[in-house]
Amino acid sequence: MVGLISVEQRARFEADGFLRLPGFVAPAACDALRTRAAALVDAVDADELGSVFSTRDQVRTTDDYFLDSGDQVRCFLEEDAVDDAGRLRRDKALAINKIGHALHDLDPVFDGFSRTAELAALVAALGVDDPRLMQSMYIFKQPFIGGEVRIHQDATFLHTEPPGVIGLWFALQDATVDNGCLWAIPGGHAGGLRSRFVRDGRRTRMEVLDPTPWDEAELIPLEARQGDLIVLHGLAPHASRPNRSPTSRHAYTLHVVPGGAAYPASNWLQRATPARGFR
Ligand code: FE2
Repeated sequence: MVGLISVEQRARFEADGFLRLPGFVAPAACDALRTRAAALVDAVDADELGSVFSTRDQVRTTDDYFLDSGDQVRCFLEEDAVDDAGRLRRDKALAINKIGHALHDLDPVFDGFSRTAELAALVAALGVDDPRLMQSMYIFKQPFIGGEVRIHQDATFLHTEPPGVIGLWFALQDATVDNGCLWAIPGGHAGGLRSRFVRDGRRTRMEVLDPTPWDEAELIPLEARQGDLIVLHGLAPHASRPNRSPTSRHAYTLHVVPGGAAYPASNWLQRATPARGFR
């Protein structure tokens, strides 16, 4: 064993670019996070909700609300929850795509979920030195309208030099091929970073480093039960399909970067204070 994972699991992570850890978190902790997220959404004034999150055209949908959310707790809408006039088509509790991006710093319940001895040991076992919790997201993947997340690498959106981000994806509900589970390309992380989502003042642009398209036929589903943790290498190509089922697929993600790596100002996510570790 290396910390919380076996030598074989570490080797599988290196080979595949992802690792499933069944039952990493107790179901009660998942339910507590869901309750807290519902309370956060309940407290938001529906009139303030205007920013849509879409991976179909991420540069176009970038606005100040998004750009300044790196060290805030903000709610983003599902594209299909808004009509042409920008009005909500459904109750806000069923209209939010995600909450981001500093839940782990600003909310005590999320802080407690995110900063545990088990997670610190896992991240150390995965070889991340001086880990810093850069970003958190609560993803709702709402019934019927949960949006697609197109194939991407997390290092596109959080680039360090050298590349070092890892994603921790917690299933807060069962995630299946029907309600929009994760999909990933085994071994796809070996090919390097293909693009960077770059901040340029108050705008963003996608910088293409390698125009080779992903072969979506290589994606395999990573179904998960509530409490399972899926670890994603920052270069692992992954995606999730729309949720057209009547069941939501809530997940919580944390992105951790090595403290010793450079974190360029060209990252969209900028914070007023440096990202903290697990303590
Ligand atoms: Fe991702």
